[in-house]
This record gives sequence, C-alpha cells and structure tokens, in this order.
Amino acid sequence: MTEPANSLPRLGAPAPDFEAETTHGKLRLSDFLGSYVVLFSHPADFTPVCTTEFLAFAKIAPDLRARGVELLGLSIDSVFAHLGWIRNIKERFGVDIPFPVVADSGRAVANLYGMVMPGESATETSRCVFIIDDKGILRAMIYYPLTTGRNTDEILRLIDALQVTDQHKAGTPANWQKGDAVILPAPRTAEDAAERSELAGKDGVEYIDWYYVKKTL
Ligand code: BEZ
Repeated sequence: MTEPANSLPRLGAPAPDFEAETTHGKLRLSDFLGSYVVLFSHPADFTPVCTTEFLAFAKIAPDLRARGVELLGLSIDSVFAHLGWIRNIKERFGVDIPFPVVADSGRAVANLYGMVMPGESATETSRCVFIIDDKGILRAMIYYPLTTGRNTDEILRLIDALQVTDQHKAGTPANWQKGDAVILPAPRTAEDAAERSELAGKDGVEYIDWYYVKKTL
C-alpha cells in the first residue's frame, strides 16, 4: 500500500485498498468485495458525540446488513483504546458494537482517504463516510465537522438511492425516499430528445418535459 498525502479520493474510482489492524483482527478492504461497505471515521474514542454515533451505527447495523452492506469504523486510536471504549459502551448502554473498528495509529488509511482536516484538527480524523459498492468503487462521500454527529437515516437513504440506481439505471430526486418515483436519465442526443414524448402515458411514467421524466417502479 502506497501512502500518498492526505488527499481526497475520487467518486467513481476504485476505493483505495488497505490492510489494517481492527477490533476483529487484521482486515483488508478488498475482503469485502461483493458487498457494499460503509467506511466511516470518528475523531476519538471515549468522546461524547462519537459515542452517540457508535450507538446510532450499531442501531442501523441490521438495516445495513439487510441491504448487503458491511460497516467498518476507523480512528487513529489504538486497538486497545477501541476495545476499552467498545466494552464501556456495552457496560454503560447495553449495546454491542457489531462492526470492526480500524486502529489507524500510523494514519495510513486516514491519509489515503483524506480524513484529516488540519484546519479542524491535526491529530484527529473528521467524521467521514465513504460508501463503496460491491465492485469496490467509491460511490459517495460525506464529510462532517468534529462537532456535528452524523444522520444515519441519511446514510441509509443514500445507500437505497445508489442501489436503486444500480438496479434501474435511474436517478433519484431531491429528498427521495425508498418507494418514491425515480428520474429517468435525460436524453443525450437530439434524436432521443425528440422521441422522449413517446414515454408519456406509459405505465408508471410521469412525463413533465423532454429532459424531465419520472417513473414509479
Ligand atoms: C466528541 O465526540 O464529542 C468530539 C470529539 C472530538 C472533537 C469534538 C467532539
């Protein structure tokens, strides 16, 4: 694994592979090929906002599994700190953390994914979320500041949207929720644009204009 500077990865490109120590032993990102992966970083173990997030991620773990998605946490704390914090979460809140957490003490993974935002903190990873598809392609990224806990409903919604796009080659409108109509890709040629109106009245189609067609699946 090469270690470039703290640069952002690119959507649509292969997610940088890595091997790392985790609370479930040594893992490679590529071990998860065939499943979607949510790789997320938190600033530090034994901190309050991060604790609320771990509880929230543990709560959606069954929903993610039902969608064929694996969770992988990460911070630059040691594996011993991760284990201590996870055990404390179990004691204090009665919640098991079912996903592995990467101990990225040397920041190798943080550097590959641009997780450190020096303007916020030179020593902690920001609250990053990387959604990687079953073919290992980076499909979405969300970056939150240190002070704001993430919205796990939005992460589920984003995965649903990406998986609908995979299945139906369609886009999803603003504030789309699972079950809502999708958007058919806009035509890219004059010929396709001219033929667009033929979709009007077809099953499930709402024709608004040549570039804007919705479809209920
Ligand atoms: C927190 O989880 O509460 C936290 C961690 C690092 C910086 C700010 C807040």
